[in-house]
Amino acid sequence: EQINKGHYEHYMQKEIHEQPESLTTTMRGRLIRRGSSKSKSVLLGGLKDHLKTIRRSRRIVFIGCGTSYNAALAARPILEELSGIPVSMEIASDLLDRQGPIYREDTAVFVSQSGETADTLLALQYALENGALCVGITNTVGSAIARKTHCGIHINAGAEIGVASTKAYTSQIVVMAMLALAIGGDTISNQARREAIVDGLYDLPNKVREVLKLDQEMKDLAQLLIAEQSLLVFGRSYNYATALEGALKVKEVALMHSEGILAGEMKHGPLALVDENLPIVVIATRDACFSKQQSVIQQLHARKGRLIVMCSKGDATSVCPGESCRSIEVPQVEDCLQPVINVVPLQLLAYHLTVLRGFNVDQPRNLAKSTVIK
Ligand code: G6P
Repeated sequence: EQINKGHYEHYMQKEIHEQPESLTTTMRGRLIRRGSSKSKSVLLGGLKDHLKTIRRSRRIVFIGCGTSYNAALAARPILEELSGIPVSMEIASDLLDRQGPIYREDTAVFVSQSGETADTLLALQYALENGALCVGITNTVGSAIARKTHCGIHINAGAEIGVASTKAYTSQIVVMAMLALAIGGDTISNQARREAIVDGLYDLPNKVREVLKLDQEMKDLAQLLIAEQSLLVFGRSYNYATALEGALKVKEVALMHSEGILAGEMKHGPLALVDENLPIVVIATRDACFSKQQSVIQQLHARKGRLIVMCSKGDATSVCPGESCRSIEVPQVEDCLQPVINVVPLQLLAYHLTVLRGFNVDQPRNLAKSTVIK
């Protein structure tokens, strides 16, 4: 594999733009489509001896740090829906600080791009001692997490050099959506949903190619936001993770304060921050929570919020409340895969903001690609 920037200026830029290809590699050989009458499904070789145990577990616990944690959060709703198993979320350091309960009947899923993050590894040690079945999701064959877990899935996104994780994030979500399909099994009641997801996965690289065309638009938006002190990102449901991840990108590379906010919590604090100066991105693509997000937009508009609305293609005029509201229109996909699409404009925004503000995109100050020392 060639590790160079090709015709790109930075690794982060290259890694954002190669997502149609990295996602294709992640899915290669793993999706099964046996013709329209037979069920569509997934094949995850690394799990085959453990699927039964996973299906019988009392709880699935996702454990990770940073972007990897956010990817797991994006996949949580579909895993809950298809498996019916309660899914809890743990930031590795917090689980260790609390010495939180992990049981023999748990399946603990460790998500890590590098497979070497110290906190995640220590949490793995802890879960192994407590007798949980441990599953690794990493991008690095032979990494400590890949070796020490009982079974796992490689995301196969290719080497990621930029400190800010981009293509690994989208591949992690796709792998966890496939994990949900694998655990969920093939019941009649969820057949149509499963088929829609498998079809959606097949088409995802094309949709990502489409959303990448927003590059110039995101550069223009970055130009507008270049001197801001802060940026809020509101999301909910599948796209709560997108809000957290978009904000994480902006703060880690563009060195601008940014906060991902669960839109359902807006009135419990964040609303006090809203005025005509603070820019706010609201993710309002079509899903079961769309009307709730429309009402969030109305409430922010009523308080003169400076809105940038991310919506499904064709929705801009109906979703944007006023002249001053900017829109980012993205292609619509199956709701549980929408986080893969929606994060891309935010990755591009963070990238352009960083370059325009004159900071180091691939090596942000004080951060490391892999935090192997506690
Ligand atoms: C560091 C990196 C982040 C990454 C996190 C978890 O903080 O700067 O980009 O998300 O570690 O890394 P992992 O390799 O475990 O996914």
